[in-house]
Amino acid sequence: MAQLSSSQLLEGKPIKVLLGNIPVCVIRVEGKVFAVEDTCSHSEASLSEGDVAGFKIECWLHGAEFDLRTGEAVTPPASIALKTFAVVEDGDVVSISSRETA
Ligand code: FES
Repeated sequence: MAQLSSSQLLEGKPIKVLLGNIPVCVIRVEGKVFAVEDTCSHSEASLSEGDVAGFKIECWLHGAEFDLRTGEAVTPPASIALKTFAVVEDGDVVSISSRETA
Protein backbone atom coordinates (compact mmCIF):
# COMPACT_ATOMS: atom_id res chain seq x y z
CA MET A 1 0.00 0.00 0.00
CA ALA A 2 1.15 3.56 -0.72
CA GLN A 3 -0.04 6.53 1.28
CA LEU A 4 0.02 10.25 0.82
CA SER A 5 -1.49 13.24 2.47
CA SER A 6 -4.81 14.46 1.15
CA SER A 7 -3.53 18.02 1.10
CA GLN A 8 -0.80 17.03 -1.40
CA LEU A 9 -3.48 16.24 -3.98
CA LEU A 10 -4.58 19.46 -5.57
CA GLU A 11 -7.44 19.35 -8.05
CA GLY A 12 -6.21 18.29 -11.51
CA LYS A 13 -2.52 17.99 -10.50
CA PRO A 14 -1.22 14.42 -10.88
CA ILE A 15 1.33 12.99 -8.47
CA LYS A 16 3.45 9.92 -9.16
CA VAL A 17 3.82 7.45 -6.28
CA LEU A 18 5.41 4.04 -6.12
CA LEU A 19 3.32 1.07 -5.11
CA GLY A 20 6.03 -1.51 -4.55
CA ASN A 21 7.89 -1.10 -7.82
CA ILE A 22 4.85 0.02 -9.84
CA PRO A 23 4.63 3.73 -10.65
CA VAL A 24 1.09 4.96 -10.08
CA CYS A 25 -0.44 8.26 -11.16
CA VAL A 26 -2.69 9.67 -8.43
CA ILE A 27 -4.98 12.58 -9.14
CA ARG A 28 -7.93 14.43 -7.68
CA VAL A 29 -10.76 15.34 -10.04
CA GLU A 30 -13.97 17.00 -8.85
CA GLY A 31 -12.89 16.22 -5.31
CA LYS A 32 -12.51 12.48 -5.82
CA VAL A 33 -9.14 10.71 -5.98
CA PHE A 34 -8.25 8.30 -8.79
CA ALA A 35 -5.18 6.11 -9.27
CA VAL A 36 -4.06 4.55 -12.55
CA GLU A 37 -0.84 3.04 -13.85
CA ASP A 38 1.61 5.87 -14.45
CA THR A 39 3.28 4.31 -17.47
CA CYS A 40 1.37 4.92 -20.69
CA SER A 41 0.12 1.68 -22.26
CA HIS A 42 1.41 2.86 -25.64
CA SER A 43 5.09 3.29 -24.73
CA GLU A 44 7.25 4.38 -21.81
CA ALA A 45 5.92 7.87 -21.00
CA SER A 46 4.96 8.96 -17.49
CA LEU A 47 1.31 10.00 -17.49
CA SER A 48 1.68 12.12 -14.36
CA GLU A 49 3.59 14.56 -16.60
CA GLY A 50 0.59 14.81 -18.93
CA ASP A 51 -2.34 17.20 -19.06
CA VAL A 52 -5.62 16.61 -17.31
CA ALA A 53 -8.98 17.69 -18.70
CA GLY A 54 -12.01 16.65 -16.69
CA PHE A 55 -11.77 12.91 -16.06
CA LYS A 56 -9.20 12.40 -18.85
CA ILE A 57 -5.43 12.46 -18.74
CA GLU A 58 -3.47 13.00 -21.93
CA CYS A 59 -0.09 11.40 -22.50
CA TRP A 60 2.44 14.15 -23.30
CA LEU A 61 4.38 11.93 -25.74
CA HIS A 62 1.89 11.04 -28.51
CA GLY A 63 -1.39 12.41 -27.20
CA ALA A 64 -3.30 9.28 -26.17
CA GLU A 65 -6.03 10.00 -23.63
CA PHE A 66 -7.25 7.75 -20.84
CA ASP A 67 -10.34 7.87 -18.66
CA LEU A 68 -9.14 8.18 -15.07
CA ARG A 69 -12.27 6.49 -13.72
CA THR A 70 -11.87 3.26 -15.69
CA GLY A 71 -8.35 3.35 -17.16
CA GLU A 72 -9.90 3.00 -20.61
CA ALA A 73 -7.85 4.24 -23.57
CA VAL A 74 -10.21 6.70 -25.24
CA THR A 75 -7.94 8.28 -27.88
CA PRO A 76 -5.29 6.61 -30.10
CA PRO A 77 -2.49 5.75 -30.40
CA ALA A 78 -3.03 3.84 -27.15
CA SER A 79 -5.58 1.05 -27.25
CA ILE A 80 -4.85 -0.89 -24.07
CA ALA A 81 -6.53 0.19 -20.84
CA LEU A 82 -4.46 1.25 -17.86
CA LYS A 83 -4.68 -0.76 -14.68
CA THR A 84 -6.60 1.12 -11.99
CA PHE A 85 -5.91 1.00 -8.27
CA ALA A 86 -8.13 1.13 -5.20
CA VAL A 87 -8.20 4.49 -3.42
CA VAL A 88 -9.37 5.10 0.12
CA GLU A 89 -9.41 8.63 1.49
CA ASP A 90 -9.73 8.76 5.25
CA GLY A 91 -9.32 12.16 6.82
CA ASP A 92 -5.98 13.52 5.63
CA VAL A 93 -4.65 10.15 4.48
CA VAL A 94 -5.07 8.76 0.97
CA SER A 95 -4.22 5.07 0.62
CA ILE A 96 -3.55 3.43 -2.74
CA SER A 97 -3.55 -0.31 -3.10
CA SER A 98 -3.75 -2.89 -5.82
CA ARG A 99 -7.30 -4.06 -6.50
CA GLU A 100 -6.23 -7.70 -6.16
CA THR A 101 -5.43 -7.20 -2.48
CA ALA A 102 -8.08 -4.54 -1.73
S1 FES B 1 3.69 6.91 -25.09
FE1 FES B 1 1.76 7.64 -24.49
S2 FES B 1 0.75 7.94 -26.36
FE2 FES B 1 2.64 7.15 -26.96
